[in-house]
Amino acid sequence: MRTQVAIIGAGPSGLLLGQLLHKAGIDNVILERQTGDYVLGRIRAGILEQVTVDLMDEAGVGSRLHQEGIVHHAIELVFSGERHPIDVTGLTGGKVVTAYGQTELTRDLMEARAAAGLPTVYEAQDVSLHGFDGDSPVVRYRHKGEDVELRCDFIAGCDGFHGVARATVKDRVTEHEKVYPFGWLGVLADVPPVSPHAIVYGNSERGFSLCSMRSMTRSRYYVQCPLDDKVEAWSDQRFWDELRRRVDPELAERIVTGPSIEKSIAPLRSFVAEPMRFGRLFLAGDAAHIVPPTGAKGLNLAASDVKYLSAGLIEHYRDKSMAGIDAYSARALKRVWKAERFSWWLTTLMHRFPDTGSFGQRMQDAELDYLVHSQAASTVLAENYVGMPL
Ligand code: APR
Ligand code: PHB
Repeated sequence: MRTQVAIIGAGPSGLLLGQLLHKAGIDNVILERQTGDYVLGRIRAGILEQVTVDLMDEAGVGSRLHQEGIVHHAIELVFSGERHPIDVTGLTGGKVVTAYGQTELTRDLMEARAAAGLPTVYEAQDVSLHGFDGDSPVVRYRHKGEDVELRCDFIAGCDGFHGVARATVKDRVTEHEKVYPFGWLGVLADVPPVSPHAIVYGNSERGFSLCSMRSMTRSRYYVQCPLDDKVEAWSDQRFWDELRRRVDPELAERIVTGPSIEKSIAPLRSFVAEPMRFGRLFLAGDAAHIVPPTGAKGLNLAASDVKYLSAGLIEHYRDKSMAGIDAYSARALKRVWKAERFSWWLTTLMHRFPDTGSFGQRMQDAELDYLVHSQAASTVLAENYVGMPL
């Protein structure tokens, strides 16, 4: 079997890349270890920068997102028992973010790919990558008990943090990592969001909280929890009680509770692998970098990687040029590091750390107060929240 670009992973990075390449007339095959239903079962963040929305439009898959996505002009910060709006749109000259779940975005991409009849091999086992330092890369895998060889011009490693692509070049990668001393306990519930027009980020003595949404009838909430906490220790009632204690009284009063439809604990990590290109192998999305979810940059960074990578590949096939491909890693990493900085900063500002001490706590209090009372400081938050330009 032969294709132009072999894409490993059918998460948002791989699917979006496949769609953009297809639009430009470039053949691609996606190899995915899991089933499609498994991929759609993963619950992740759901705040899209304009850059990501524009890319979905460019890929021709933006229509449901425009119908069902909920445009946000603000965020809210809760601390010391009070809630403070940050007018993101006003502070950025008109920019917005869109609330639309990653699951829905992935579903739109999967459906468009299926409708276009593009090849996706689900349950591809033992994927291995070869020959990418030369001109004729090969991807080998097992499917339905048979060994398959896929020859290609390029391999895109869109296979997430635990994928095979970065592991294959482990000896050539420089890794930068920070692991945070807490996790997020997340609950998804079919209840109306307490704050439909702005995500609410809270810092309380009891720890971080986040009120988010997927639609006008589905909400997503999180509380900071110890890393060794177990989901089973959190009944729905305990979760709702804890969330209410971490926000201001007026918001707490308005939270509509109901049975959880998903509940999980996720660790928080900052991680970057450099570079993002090895000959004819590229890393994109979570395969190359992880941000802690505070600020919701993970999916948006995957989208900007894909924008740069697809542009480089399209230029290559159109103009026989390697310029965009040669520039890919440096261009992508420049934006990645800015989002890493923002996500690390917002995480540090909004969470309670075990070893903060009284001085550290006063620093956090003073910074939060400064942030909401200085237009310059609020603008820094707002311009990062809507996303850096490409
Ligand atoms: N072979 C084939 N597929 C693989 C392999 C492998 N060896 N290893 C992993 N995969 C698949 C996974 O099953 C997954 O479906 O690669 C896909 C990677 O998808 P994601 O983890 O969603 O990563 P990405 O597409 O880069 O999306 C980034 O996901 O974690 C969030 O915050 C992150 O929103 C961001 C987005
Ligand atoms: C979410 O909706 O899951 C979400 C929103 C904002 C974040 C993180 C997660 O910063």
